[in-house]
Amino acid sequence: MCGIIGYTGTKNSVPFLLQGLRALEYRGYDSAGVAVQINGGINTVKAKGRIDNLEEKINSSEIKTDGTCGIGHTRWATHGAPSDINSHPHRAPSLALIHNGIIENYAEIEEMLSAEGYTFVSETDTEAAAKLIDYYFVRLGDPVKAIFEATDVIRGSYAFGVIFDSYPDTIYSIRKDSPLIVASTEEGGFIASDIPAILSHTSSYYQLEEGIVAIIGKNNVSFVDRKGNESSQTRLTIDWNVEQAQKGGFPHFMIKEIHEEPEAIRKTVSTRIGEDGLPDFGIRELDIVRLSKFKNIHIVACGTAMHAGLIGKNIIEKIARVPVNVDIASEFRYRDPILSKDDLVILLSQSGETADTLAALRHAKSKGVYTLSIVNVIGSSVAREADSVLYTWAGPEISVASTKAYSVQCALLYLFAVQLARACGKLSDAFAKELCRKLTEEVPEAISKTLELSKEIKNASRHYLASEHLFFIGRGIDSALCSEASLKLKEISYIHCEAYAAGELKHGTISLITDGIPVVALMTEEFLAEKVISGIREVKSRGANVLAITTKEIAEKYAIPADKIISVPEVDEFFAPFLLATVVQLFAYHIAAGRGCDVDKPRNLAKSVTVE
Ligand code: AGP
Repeated sequence: MCGIIGYTGTKNSVPFLLQGLRALEYRGYDSAGVAVQINGGINTVKAKGRIDNLEEKINSSEIKTDGTCGIGHTRWATHGAPSDINSHPHRAPSLALIHNGIIENYAEIEEMLSAEGYTFVSETDTEAAAKLIDYYFVRLGDPVKAIFEATDVIRGSYAFGVIFDSYPDTIYSIRKDSPLIVASTEEGGFIASDIPAILSHTSSYYQLEEGIVAIIGKNNVSFVDRKGNESSQTRLTIDWNVEQAQKGGFPHFMIKEIHEEPEAIRKTVSTRIGEDGLPDFGIRELDIVRLSKFKNIHIVACGTAMHAGLIGKNIIEKIARVPVNVDIASEFRYRDPILSKDDLVILLSQSGETADTLAALRHAKSKGVYTLSIVNVIGSSVAREADSVLYTWAGPEISVASTKAYSVQCALLYLFAVQLARACGKLSDAFAKELCRKLTEEVPEAISKTLELSKEIKNASRHYLASEHLFFIGRGIDSALCSEASLKLKEISYIHCEAYAAGELKHGTISLITDGIPVVALMTEEFLAEKVISGIREVKSRGANVLAITTKEIAEKYAIPADKIISVPEVDEFFAPFLLATVVQLFAYHIAAGRGCDVDKPRNLAKSVTVE
């Protein structure tokens, strides 16, 4: 996610741009920039780091930026590490452009444009879009036609803001998948990724429809379709304050980020599947020839990321039959792990700055083992220092409790497992394609349907608001999911939780089960259902209150002796853990919110633990 803003009016545009960018920093904050029309040309100032760095650079720069029409961008890097040169706006001879989204075919576009004499200075996908619009503008002489021609070629997601040096006081915009709003006020015309950027100027705006070009002038806005016909857009009014707007109307970032999971998985996985419908990570060592050389896999991480590793272990061993060891990063280097040159070490980290994970990475590299990192923050230390990196494109995760990052880490581990299973001859291409299709299409869709259970989960959560202890039990992959469910609940509600393999309870811990103790049983694998049900009977006979979270199929086929059953929408059992993960995240959220806890900033915790 990135934040884009534009203003054209009678006043200096830069204050409007900076204020808008600050309101959009929750969408991305690793670098920022502005471009302003000045005396028939366009000046740009860009800076790595937060908006304050940009403002400082603007104020100290010789470059004039006191024009009345400009665009601004705050970046969440997806292609190319955070740097001045990779920051937006990106230039082309006749224009400047800002972009939120991912251009999937940017390499092909660059190749075509290079043959036409264009050169590229950044590592981003966006620069290709800027020069492609320029390419058509030079030939067609019309900004709107150039934008439509270019977006016919572009594959991917985008919200563009474009200013042309020969069209003063005017901003052009178009979108596909990424959000963009347009507003016209007495102060002038605005474009923005999201409402917070314009809320201090107006509460009325247009939600730009896909495939329509918005033409924003000082005194009015107009909309045209592909045929050049006027298009009417719906004018909307918002009554949120700025803080509510940054959370998209949700009361907390955590619940907003849980709702972003379907899109985050779709964006992260779909761009790692080739034209043939099979995994394509774009990393030489992960192609099916080289991948088969890895005889042992070590997944190393902390907290929620480590719990994603437990899911990965289960899936990789299930379909690829390659041994996987999951290590807590803070233990890894101190236990002198047995590593060999044929091993692969995978580091999972949302922030990419967790000190324990970084230290584990360095230890693995010192032993000559190949390291792959799966990271959400582009250009972060774990991403940079690993031999290769697979970025999760979940967008900024603001809430301390990790949710969408966990889900996309699991999604990439599933895709990795499919590729490894192919490499080891355990999976046919036909079946691999089917799994890829389900992961890209059915899983996000089923998660969206699962999110509709939020009200039911909130009602169920009321029963636990006064609880002091709670147990999560499950078998197989659900035992791994219990670890994450337990961490999620305890870290934001402060209820003491434990995760237990359901078959292990009777070996001691069941002594803690007394009247009314809450137990949550997770069940996605039908072949284990009867075993888990006997575990439920065991704790019930000691007075436990049991909530079972399971699949529609299991709920219909078995008489589960629980006090309450929540069943998730229909999905291939292999992918059911994604849906239960969303449920337990919502469960934790509603309990913590119901207990009046500081959901996004729990006591004692930091979003990234950069100390050992
Ligand atoms: C997750 O909810 C926690 N905030 C914490 O366990 C986190 O997952 C852990 O610190 C690892 O962080 P990372 O993914 O940024 O490396």
